[in-house]
Amino acid sequence: MRPLNQPITSWAGRRVWLVGASSGIGAALAQELLQAGATVALSARRAQQLHEVAAGHAQAIVAPFDILEETAWGERYRDICAKTGGIDLVVFCAAAYRPERSWDVTAEGAAHTLAVNLGSVYTGLATVLPDMLARGSGGVAIVASVAGYVGLPNASVYGPTKAALINLAEVLYADLQQRGLDVYLINPGFVQTPLTDKNAFAMPALQTPQAAAKAIRSGLASGKFEIHFPKRFTIWVKLLGTLPYRLRFALISRLLVPK
Ligand SMILES: NC(=O)c1ccc[n+]([C@@H]2O[C@H](COP(=O)([O-])OP(=O)(O)OC[C@H]3O[C@@H](n4cnc5c(N)ncnc54)[C@H](OP(=O)(O)O)[C@@H]3O)[C@@H](O)[C@H]2O)c1
Repeated sequence: MRPLNQPITSWAGRRVWLVGASSGIGAALAQELLQAGATVALSARRAQQLHEVAAGHAQAIVAPFDILEETAWGERYRDICAKTGGIDLVVFCAAAYRPERSWDVTAEGAAHTLAVNLGSVYTGLATVLPDMLARGSGGVAIVASVAGYVGLPNASVYGPTKAALINLAEVLYADLQQRGLDVYLINPGFVQTPLTDKNAFAMPALQTPQAAAKAIRSGLASGKFEIHFPKRFTIWVKLLGTLPYRLRFALISRLLVPK
């Protein structure tokens, strides 16, 4: 069967904008792609960390900014394009997460997580898509999560943002494929990063950021639309999402609701 996207097998000369590259999965993916020969523009707020990720890679471009500042997107994009001539693939990898039960959610905290995880992606799309559409080529990769497959306790705001990103990636695929663009949806299971260091519970099938980066690169090389890993975990969460609610809630309550 033909892959849903053009497989990315060669990274030499490919220009990637990785948003959320200062730690965790984004930092590991940046290094994986730099080692493979890509030119990678690294963005996040912490410039020092970005410089550490970029160290030793001549094709790394450090481009720090806060994704909540709408005007900064355009400024950074223009800086990066001035250096690279354009972007072939943008990876939306930034996120905010706070483990919180429903009664812990505040309006302010929810608004912040929604803005970082979801709102910023719309600003980013508005920034990069016009040039990609004009060229008729380019790729958009959205890092969502298995937390978007089903409603899980502790992911009171984070989970809904990831469910929305999964939906958004599907919308984008339907619209952009016919215009020559590729859309990748990346759904990791648990990865050991500063984001998950906040979790007080045992995380099944926990992976390293480096393993996650390799799984993402391998998914991109296969031209997959959805890149989910590790399969020994993600398949079960997918299955949970297909169960009738009565059964699904009973399982979630028994296995996942903190007592
Ligand atoms: N770890 C997991 O188990 C897991 C599982 C499924 C999905 N994911 C997803 O994978 C992606 C990477 O997460 P991670 O686990 O690697 O966490 P992480 O290490 O905390 O990385 C989050 C990134 O987002 C950036 N970021 C946050 N707020 C920002 C802002 N306002 N402006 C610019 N950048 C901002 C952070 O950089 P600065 O703080 O420097 O700004 C950092 O680079 C996220 O989308 C996450 O939801 C993670």
